[in-house]
Amino acid sequence: MRVRVHEDPAAAAAEAAEVLARRLADRPEAVLGLATGGTMEPLYEDLIGRYKRGDLSFAKATTFNLDEYVGLAPDHPQSYRRYMEEHLFRHVDIDPARTHVPRGDLPPEEAAEAYETDLARLGPVDVQLLGLGRNGHIGFNEPTSSLASRTREKALTASTLRANSRFFGEGETQPTTAITMGIATIMEARHILVLAVGAKKAEAVVNMIEGPVAAMCPASILQHHPSVMVILDTEAACLLK
Ligand code: F6R
Repeated sequence: MRVRVHEDPAAAAAEAAEVLARRLADRPEAVLGLATGGTMEPLYEDLIGRYKRGDLSFAKATTFNLDEYVGLAPDHPQSYRRYMEEHLFRHVDIDPARTHVPRGDLPPEEAAEAYETDLARLGPVDVQLLGLGRNGHIGFNEPTSSLASRTREKALTASTLRANSRFFGEGETQPTTAITMGIATIMEARHILVLAVGAKKAEAVVNMIEGPVAAMCPASILQHHPSVMVILDTEAACLLK
């Protein structure tokens, strides 16, 4: 694992954007694995800026997102498809037909199988972007997830539901399960790029990098991947030895 620590979250997001932009410049038809969440918003803003300045094109790229809430249709305001449209896709030249997000409105088994079929046909993913849950989850592979898991429906833990409740307004029902790429699915990416910022991620960061490889910290499996870059700010890195 290569670990890079920046003074502030903005610099960390900018470096992660630089890594993705460089990959896309080298290989315009790259398959990018994408993530949602608060951490990724400045990174996507940075990529949009590069596109608007004429420095970057997504025209030939293919994308696969990690996860989607079960029960939410693609146009639901809290769906991860909608997040991607609002934070990246509608602002750049990506071909919508080449963007993939698991379908939360289909029977989960069907949606998961279709996703694995698409990944097998169009993959492997060149660079998989990952955020990190406070409990060490990657995608929505919560602690105790099998390290051999494939795309499937997964129940969200109380801590993840609490952390993500901030995105749901009053009267909006927060789904309790999600379809997520499995840990083994994620590990098939050629390169992995983890972005984590803030003190709330510090414990998960140290468990991911220095802890034993264990299902209680799903991100720790990344120690077995041959090409992982972890980009942090000083707060997220504060417990590292
Ligand atoms: C989202 C995802 C999650 C998030 C993680 C961190 O697609 O896969 O693993 O990356 O929950 O979320 P934030 O960035 O909101 O702290």
